[in-house]
Amino acid sequence: MNPRLNQLQPYPFQRLRDLFAGVAPNPDLRAVNLSIGEPRHATPEFIKEALTANLQGLSSYPITQGSEDLREAISNWSRMRYGVDLDPANQILPVNGSREALFAFAQAVIDPSKHVKRVLAPNPFYQIYEGAALLAGAKPYFLNTLPENGFRCDFAAIPEDLWETVQLAYVCSPGNPTGRVMSLADWREVFDLADRHGFVIASDECYSEIYFHEGALAEGGAGAPRSGEATPESGAAPAAPQTVGSRASGGGPPLGALTAAKELGRDLHNLVVFNSLSKRSNVPGLRSGFVAGDAELIRQFLLYRTYHGSAMNPAVQAASVAAWRDEGHVQENRRQYREKFAAVMPILQGTLEFDAPDAAFYLWAKVPGADDTVFARELYREKHVTVLPGSYLAREAKGVNPGKGFIRIALVDGLEQCVEAAQQIVEFVETGTTH
Ligand SMILES: Cc1ncc(COP(=O)(O)O)c(C=O)c1O
Repeated sequence: MNPRLNQLQPYPFQRLRDLFAGVAPNPDLRAVNLSIGEPRHATPEFIKEALTANLQGLSSYPITQGSEDLREAISNWSRMRYGVDLDPANQILPVNGSREALFAFAQAVIDPSKHVKRVLAPNPFYQIYEGAALLAGAKPYFLNTLPENGFRCDFAAIPEDLWETVQLAYVCSPGNPTGRVMSLADWREVFDLADRHGFVIASDECYSEIYFHEGALAEGGAGAPRSGEATPESGAAPAAPQTVGSRASGGGPPLGALTAAKELGRDLHNLVVFNSLSKRSNVPGLRSGFVAGDAELIRQFLLYRTYHGSAMNPAVQAASVAAWRDEGHVQENRRQYREKFAAVMPILQGTLEFDAPDAAFYLWAKVPGADDTVFARELYREKHVTVLPGSYLAREAKGVNPGKGFIRIALVDGLEQCVEAAQQIVEFVETGTTH
């Protein structure tokens, strides 16, 4: 077997199961699970109908490039959302969810002939980045995102001699787990570095549609912050009471890499974005997303995918076309998240320390006592509430695990359950003896 498999770490949810092994949760309280970032709002009926109305597609092999209809729907959506024109013929590829694509992309990009190969990733981070790098024979290089730095990746701290080994950088905006949105100044920094050192940027934007204030779209794209200048304070905690989206993005549609490139007058060279219907349209089981950007990278990635065998089911393609063409259901989705953040944040304020997120559906909160695993385990035992220890989402870098002392609370359950969980967390902290 490939010895690189041995480098893969247990997935955070496996570690959570291990942590909870033998722990009996309080039987008097109902279970509320806010650990997994799995959207649980209802899948819109019209998407299900489009899926079942197109089952005849199962009788033929789909092409890896996907149908013209789907690529066109994605191109139109990107124009409306990001204000960019993407050629459906060579700048867009449908993928079976962004997870597989984020993984596969590293396999296609990393040049094995180089002795040392590095992949940059934020820390804490979506675990696929690490596995993708390791299985491609590269070493992940983690950039700690910490509250004192406004949860930014500190690219400036990377030693100069490391750059020549960097082949790929994953960036994640809105960030999982921090909810931070990259500003135009952040993008400028990443683009400048990529142009100087020749690495590829994989921009994971799968939470781009979970934001808090409905804003104007198109005409140069929507998003944050418009000024183009730095927002050094962008991660700083605003004065209480906190409201969601009060940092960099102003809570409106996050600025994506495509819009940022356009605003900065840069082309899409070495830049690919990943997006997904999973969170936007509440279809995590559909497995549908796309990659878009640099036509040359897309061409090579298509070649890779043809051999890998990752064409999208034709019925899924049809359902995806329907989903990308509709914004009404996405607005309703956002309304539900907005309602939950508005209800939950005031309850938790004063008990846990957190910055209101710019976007996405997580609260990234510091726990009292600083041991996130004990906190999560005892919360589960006493209150039947499941959250994810932050240290499971991060690796030690520069002598610290930047997830240590944090928990990730995914506001994915219903409003009532989220409120109940928040109240239980407060009670747990106020009466707790183990933390
Ligand atoms: C940051 C991030 N990227 C990508 C994904 C993958 O989502 P999907 O494969 O459903 O598109 C997730 C899923 O939770 C995520 O949190």
